Amino acid sequence: MKKIIWAAVLYSCVVFAQNKESLVSFRKDVMPTFTKKCIGCHAAEDEGLGNLFLTGYSELMKGDSDHGPVVVKGKSDKSVLIMKLRGTAGFGKRMPRGMKPLDEKTIGIISRWIDQGAPNN
Ligand code: HEC
Repeated sequence: MKKIIWAAVLYSCVVFAQNKESLVSFRKDVMPTFTKKCIGCHAAEDEGLGNLFLTGYSELMKGDSDHGPVVVKGKSDKSVLIMKLRGTAGFGKRMPRGMKPLDEKTIGIISRWIDQGAPNN
């Protein structure tokens, strides 16, 4: 029994340390991808873009796009944003539309940011 408790304590320390170490920053880790790959389309006043603007945190979190809110805080698997990046949303095209899909690492970083509560950091 004692061993199990110690294993649990140790495990939670490791998890805690990892989370702390790898806290994703919206400004430094997420926004640059939007700037590079998305706002060519998602900054224009155009009905065809799902009414989604990716020009900053408040625009992303506004939640009034066609299938929005696209970010569900703490739940990347329920977030339309991630489904669109993976091509599993079940409507429209995979994002970025007409370009090479983002690599797994980049999608992973954005997912992690959402799972960490999608803070404006
Ligand atoms: C070439 C233009 C273009 C680019 C680049 C692009 N998108 Fe889109 N996006 C669209 C269009 C058009 C739609 C609406 C049709 C659809 O859902 O496929 C859309 C829809 C979306 C939606 C669904 C919004 C909703 O509520 O229905 C999300 C999320 C999204 N894009 C995310 C992104 C992300 C993230 C990027 C960058 C990695 C990106 N898009 C790059 C054109 C683009």
